[in-house]
Amino acid sequence: MNCKEVLNIKAKEIDGYLEQYLPKQKEYPSEIFEAMRYSIFAGGKRLRPVLLLSTCEMLGGNSKEAIPFACAIEMIHTYSLIHDDLPAMDNDDYRRGKLTSHKKFGEALAILAGDGLLHHAMEIMANACVENCSEKTVKAMQAIAQGAGVYGMLSGQVVDVLSEGKEIDEKTMYFIHKNKTAAMLQGALKAGAILAGATKQQVEMMEQAGEKLGVAFQIADDVLDITSSLEELGKPVHSDEKNEKNTYVTIYGIEKSKEMIQNLSQEAICIFKTFSKGTFLAELTQYLIDRKS
Ligand code: IPE
Ligand code: IPE
Ligand code: MG
Ligand code: MG
Ligand code: MG
Repeated sequence: MNCKEVLNIKAKEIDGYLEQYLPKQKEYPSEIFEAMRYSIFAGGKRLRPVLLLSTCEMLGGNSKEAIPFACAIEMIHTYSLIHDDLPAMDNDDYRRGKLTSHKKFGEALAILAGDGLLHHAMEIMANACVENCSEKTVKAMQAIAQGAGVYGMLSGQVVDVLSEGKEIDEKTMYFIHKNKTAAMLQGALKAGAILAGATKQQVEMMEQAGEKLGVAFQIADDVLDITSSLEELGKPVHSDEKNEKNTYVTIYGIEKSKEMIQNLSQEAICIFKTFSKGTFLAELTQYLIDRKS
């Protein structure tokens, strides 16, 4: 089986877990639950939960205990996409091959669906901490909250939107990608390692790998925004140009950006390969930077 096939199987398993952890559409007020479920089940690679569960397995942990955290991180990621697409942000009409939340349900409900997914994720993780109260569960929740929060994904999104139409330096460009994208991947890898009972050094290695993989992944997203299509990506292309975004491509050009993707991803791969069971994460990194969608 190739990496894409393995990823698809894992993604299907995660869909089943998400079904268990999301509120049912028939609950009152059903509109919010419908909107939350719509964006979650619109598709998506399920990269962050796969990274979390695979890291836990790689380091000898019991991935069953990690399932609520894996679902939570996918809910937080999906919330970030719903808000990222809003007219006040990137103003995009398609996501995961379907109309964006605000196009389907209106802006108010899209904002609330994003909020709903974020809060529900926190609730799921807190419940997991109550059920299995240990330093591991609390620290895993902490890692995910940090990855998503004002010192993580959110700060990257803030600088991303505030930099539209402006010239920024290399340091600021790196800050945007490290935070808006890598921070959540780091949160996934770190939480998976913590739940496996990894050593401090192993957790730090996963954080390092997450930074390299995350920045490479976002540069690849910047390239795909130019070279791919709506059909392949499931989201509009040329969104960055429309919004006068600073990306690696606008600063360095496509060829240099591709070189940077290769270098950064190789660094992540080297880290994964130091673990005896690190083959899947190494192959997944390669697959993600070579992806077309
Ligand atoms: C999209 O993330 C946003 C970025 C950080 C580039 P993904 O490419 O993981 O999107 P889904 O979850 O598969 O839809
Ligand atoms: C956003 O980056 C990353 C998030 C935190 C959602 P982009 O704005 O480039 O992501 P896409 O291209 O809309 O998926
Ligand atoms: Mg954006
Ligand atoms: Mg966007
Ligand atoms: Mg993009």
